[in-house]
Amino acid sequence: MIERNKTTPSTIKFIDLFCGIGGFRYASQQAFQQLGSKGQCLFSSDIDKFAAESYQANFGEKPAGDITKVDEKDIPDFDLLFAGFPCQAFSICGLQKGFADSTKGTLFFDIARILKAKQPNAFVLENVKNLISHDGGRTFQTIIHVLREELGYFVDYKILNALDFGLPQKRERIIIAGAKKPFDMDWRFDIQYVKTLKDILEDKVDKKHYASEEIVKKRKEMHRAETTPAIWHENKSGNISSYPYSCALRAGASYNYLLVDGERRLTPREMLRLQGFPDEFKIVVSDAQIRKQAGNAVPVNMAAKVIETFIPLVF
Ligand SMILES: C[S@@+](CC[C@H](N)C(=O)[O-])C[C@H]1O[C@@H](n2cnc3c(N)ncnc32)[C@H](O)[C@@H]1O
Repeated sequence: MIERNKTTPSTIKFIDLFCGIGGFRYASQQAFQQLGSKGQCLFSSDIDKFAAESYQANFGEKPAGDITKVDEKDIPDFDLLFAGFPCQAFSICGLQKGFADSTKGTLFFDIARILKAKQPNAFVLENVKNLISHDGGRTFQTIIHVLREELGYFVDYKILNALDFGLPQKRERIIIAGAKKPFDMDWRFDIQYVKTLKDILEDKVDKKHYASEEIVKKRKEMHRAETTPAIWHENKSGNISSYPYSCALRAGASYNYLLVDGERRLTPREMLRLQGFPDEFKIVVSDAQIRKQAGNAVPVNMAAKVIETFIPLVF
């Protein structure tokens, strides 16, 4: 256990924006436990009805809805803000419109207005890797400018990969950490627990997750894997490759383009495991919804290590 910074409050009050199914919430629980601190979530928000159902079933709180409709004055004072803000506007898979996208592109500014009004000690934000290069780097520059110059935070950021945090998923995400006081973040982490693909695959899998004989036959004619188990990945032009880990789960399409050993889709539980969610996570929504939710989540192990390293530096 890391020794808690003498000034670290024994309870850290946080808010969970764009909370989805609580990737940051689990991550912070794990990190606070390691630090000998306690976390207290004072506010959460997600616009998606089904994500809110999952969150409520697992954390006993119903998140507030659309953050653009929440008056910052109605949010209780807190120390730490988490936000994995929506990536559609910034993603390589998306429309590349960024802030020009009048709805989703402005959600960063909801984070900014809450930071401005509430002045918490620190924040941790997460987004797709492509945020950094979007619109020739201007989108990211604007974000960093707002956080540093307009809101007065010290800010550092890094692209991290879930594969480096003991999860068998290649998922690169940018993490932006900011604090009222200067800090020197060490982005190299000591990872003790590593899960292989074999560890996360279920033994008994319902027939509904298997691809049709025809698809399996076609895939196997086209590709021979070097390892098993492997996740076979079909790209847009129909080329198949396979790895002893999964490509990044996506909210939309992972179901069809990733096949375990070329034969079946990942189950909802396997998708959650690929994101580091514990097996006690209750699945209370349809397969389609949980697939979307798992595809949207922040890898728990990645966020937990970041929080565990960051908190003692800034409280
Ligand atoms: C990338 S996901 C974040 C997932 C989360 N970090 C997790 O671990 O599950 C973005 C989330 O923002 C939510 N969202 C989109 N627009 C929103 C809005 N206007 N207000 C609140 N939540 C919103 C989406 O429903 C989605 O769950």
